[in-house]
Amino acid sequence: MGTVFTRQITQIIAHRGSKGTRPENTLLAFQAALDDGADGIETDVQLSRDGQMIIMHDEQVDRTTNGSGQVRDLTLAQLKALDAGSHVDPAYAGTQIPTLDEVIRLLQRNCFTGIFNLELKTNKFPYPGLEQQLATYFTQHPVGFRLVFSSFRAQSLVTLRRLYPQAEYAKLFQTASRQAKKMGRLHQVADLHPDIRWVKAHRFWLPHMQLRPWTVNSSADMTYCFKRRFAGIITDYPAQAVRLRQQIQGVSDSWKKS
Ligand code: G3P
Ligand code: MG
Repeated sequence: MGTVFTRQITQIIAHRGSKGTRPENTLLAFQAALDDGADGIETDVQLSRDGQMIIMHDEQVDRTTNGSGQVRDLTLAQLKALDAGSHVDPAYAGTQIPTLDEVIRLLQRNCFTGIFNLELKTNKFPYPGLEQQLATYFTQHPVGFRLVFSSFRAQSLVTLRRLYPQAEYAKLFQTASRQAKKMGRLHQVADLHPDIRWVKAHRFWLPHMQLRPWTVNSSADMTYCFKRRFAGIITDYPAQAVRLRQQIQGVSDSWKKS
C-alpha cells in the first residue's frame, strides 16, 4: 500500500470550477467554488488562433457554447462572442469563455491563497509556445496562491518546469502510471493526479507519492480518499466534499483561515 500521510488534510479542488452546479470553466463556476469553500481550483488552458491563453476544456467549443469549431481556429474576439452559459441553463445566458488573466484576477479579488491547478491541455494539440507564455505571464504577475501545473503531456511539464521551476508540477494520467511514476523518481513532478478508477484498482500498490485523484464525485469515492488522507481530490461538487470532509477529517475549508 502507498504511503499513508496520517495527519494531512485532504485539499478539495473544484474541477473546472464548481462544474456540478455552474457552467464549467467560467468565472461563475470559479466564484461558486470559492463560495463553496473549495481549497483549490482546477482548470484547463489552451491557445486561441491569435495566441491568447483561454480557459476551456474541450478542444472544440461545440459542447459548452453556442458556437462550433476548434478553439485553435477561433480568435479571442470570436471566442468572447460565444455564450458559454446557456448550455447549462438559460439563466446563465451571456456568460463568456474567460481568459487565463481574467481567472487570475478573480482569484486575486477574492484574496485567494489556496491551490490553483492549471492543466495544460496539450495532449491533443501541443499548442507550441504555451509553456513559454505561461512562464512569462507568471513571472510578470506574481501570485499569492499555490500554483500547480499539470498535464497529460509529459513534455509540457518538463518544458515549463525548465522555464518556471518555482511552481509545483503534477502528472495527470488515466492508466499510464509507469511514465508518471518515472517522472516522480526523476523529480520532474512532485505529485500525481490519477484517475480515481486507477487509484481504486491499484489500492494495494499505490506509489509513495502525493495523490490528487479526479474526478471524485460520489460520496463513496470522497470517503475513500478522505479516509486515506490523500493530498487532494479534484471534484465537481466541492460543497458536498467540504461537508463530508468535516465528518471524516473534522475540518472545514482551510485557505480562508490560514
Ligand atoms: O485535472 C484533472 C482533470 O481535469 C483531468 O481530466 O479531462 O477533466 O481535464 P479533464
Ligand atoms: Mg482538467
